[in-house]
Amino acid sequence: MAKHDLDPNYLDPNYEPVVNHTENTPFHQVLSARMQRRTVMKGSVGAALASVMGLGLAGCGSDSNDSTTSSNVSSTDIGFRAVPTSTANEVVVPEGYSSEAFLPWGTPITGSYPAYKPDGTNTGAEQEQQMGMHHDGVHFFPIDLKAGGNSSSEGLLVMNHEYINQGALHANGATYVNDMRPADEVRKEIAAHGVSVVHIKRDTNGKWDIVFGSPFNRRITGNTEMDIRGPVRGYSKLITKYSPDATETRGTLNNCAMGPTPWGTYLAAEENWHGYFANGDATQPREQTRHGVGSSSRYDWELADSAADQYVRFNVSTIGATAADDYRNEANTYGYMVEIDPFTPESKPQKRTALGRFGHEGVIFAPAREGKPVVCYSGDDSRFEYIYKFVSSKPYYAATAGGYLLDEGTLYVARFNDDGSGDWLSLDLDDADFAAKVAAAEGTQVGDVQFDGFENQADVLLNTRLAADIAGATPMDRPEWGAVDPNSGQVYFTLTNNSRRTEEQVNAANPNANNRTGHIIRWSEEGNDHTATSFDWDIFVFAGEQGTETVVDDEVIVSLTDDNIFNSPDGLWFDYNGRLWIQTDGSDAAPYQNNMMLAANPETREIKRFFVGPVGCEVTGVVSTPDVKTMFVNIQHPDGNWPDSSDPRPRDATVIVTKDDGGVIGA
Ligand code: FEO
Ligand code: CA
Ligand code: CA
Repeated sequence: MAKHDLDPNYLDPNYEPVVNHTENTPFHQVLSARMQRRTVMKGSVGAALASVMGLGLAGCGSDSNDSTTSSNVSSTDIGFRAVPTSTANEVVVPEGYSSEAFLPWGTPITGSYPAYKPDGTNTGAEQEQQMGMHHDGVHFFPIDLKAGGNSSSEGLLVMNHEYINQGALHANGATYVNDMRPADEVRKEIAAHGVSVVHIKRDTNGKWDIVFGSPFNRRITGNTEMDIRGPVRGYSKLITKYSPDATETRGTLNNCAMGPTPWGTYLAAEENWHGYFANGDATQPREQTRHGVGSSSRYDWELADSAADQYVRFNVSTIGATAADDYRNEANTYGYMVEIDPFTPESKPQKRTALGRFGHEGVIFAPAREGKPVVCYSGDDSRFEYIYKFVSSKPYYAATAGGYLLDEGTLYVARFNDDGSGDWLSLDLDDADFAAKVAAAEGTQVGDVQFDGFENQADVLLNTRLAADIAGATPMDRPEWGAVDPNSGQVYFTLTNNSRRTEEQVNAANPNANNRTGHIIRWSEEGNDHTATSFDWDIFVFAGEQGTETVVDDEVIVSLTDDNIFNSPDGLWFDYNGRLWIQTDGSDAAPYQNNMMLAANPETREIKRFFVGPVGCEVTGVVSTPDVKTMFVNIQHPDGNWPDSSDPRPRDATVIVTKDDGGVIGA
């Protein structure tokens, strides 16, 4: 196949095509007394100047109070001294803390443990046994978890490898011979994606290392065999040459954030998977157009110089006589949450389709309750896309819980009303309201799609975005990670930015046109019941430069200062004590400089910068040991020679952060 003109945007790692061309606005724009709660962003020149002058700001929630001296410290107080913004090509942590890079891309973790070669000459087969690139969502599973333990000195560190830097991966970057790509380069690129499971242990000196030869050490790549589970399993639109009964596929790609399940497994999200497929047909199905699949792919894997199906499948054009003769449906096997059981190395990953198919950023579970349904939340990170909630139809019992709980249930999408209330809108054809909306939409234009109905619930889930358009969900400013406050039960989501939102498109939950810096929204489910179908929301904080205010009832609750300016919140995690950790993937120009991680007290909204990454990176993925004394923070796409200044290639890596006195991080 001839190489199509490459959309230059595909080379931009932050490229998110606008593929929602519906004009959804919340139905209930009822002005009520609650609208008095004014939450606006204001950049104040005076405040910015005061900040430059090093003056404290009245009402600021982030002056340098030292809460460690207080005799009545609550567990979510922020005790360290904020670190300044930084342009250094190194990790910055507060006084009294230390950091060390760990498990950089290329570290051998399994098989024959092939050594990393700094000249880029490791083969595809070697990369399949080494840490992948572009570390992202990460979780630490205590090694004794299944026995009811909570070890903080040994466990399985499981992480995603979102995408790749071809320039660093190969000796001479991506190469082409007669417009085709050498197959082993493509093999290596596919292997640098996916998920790593690494058995790690801390020695008596406090040093963490890989447990060499552990049977748990494992690589899952863009070529690992997987099952399709849930309502979409067996649906005709997933038939491929590889799986004529539409029950299997190969690989998981563009794994951004993740979510640990209440039963000790790991769900990896498939985010910008659309960029891996190329469709040369004159027209494309709605299952591709609503996601932005193009006529060329980001890395040209479909141009591999090999007839092997593992490469051919990235060409999703209609080539064969039937769907069982080609890969026209391959892209329909992507866009899911993928369950991996790190404690069962031989287990096959499971794509859980009941959670919907979209650009999953990650997933966050509400605390599981014995005898109650399992509830989890997932954001769709693209401009004007939505936030979803899944409620299982079967109850959770700790003794028997497993992935089957994710195969049957109701998928909802969020509508944020302008009065501070919200509704979960069912996307189930058995729901009368949704069925009526679908019937009314048939034969009409929904965004760019001429809507001709859904065949069944599998078709609804395969086209989750379209179903949510029809349901009337609220288009958000790029929902990234979510987190559930272990103390209050409130659900937080980062809305990273949306520079395309116009004045006409603002709504109360996304109130800023040209939103370049993002905000964090949160809500409480009605009755603090995560299965509820309504909620109350507010905005936790607006990101931005010095003086950016978050105002509630005419009171300035947060005014950002040098200690906490940030932009484009992305990673979000509540630690086991209830401190909120906020990571950024935004502009690294002044005044923000390098991307960072901040800690927040959810009760007081005190926010302090805790960590700044090296040049060019995003800071994404954070977890700690159960005692919150070792923190793992991922650094993705550094551009300089980090972490090893003698290595010509930048290497994505995990950073281990500890407190020098062995204490709780953040306290
Ligand atoms: Fe992969 Fe939305 O960040
Ligand atoms: Ca992200
Ligand atoms: Ca991001």
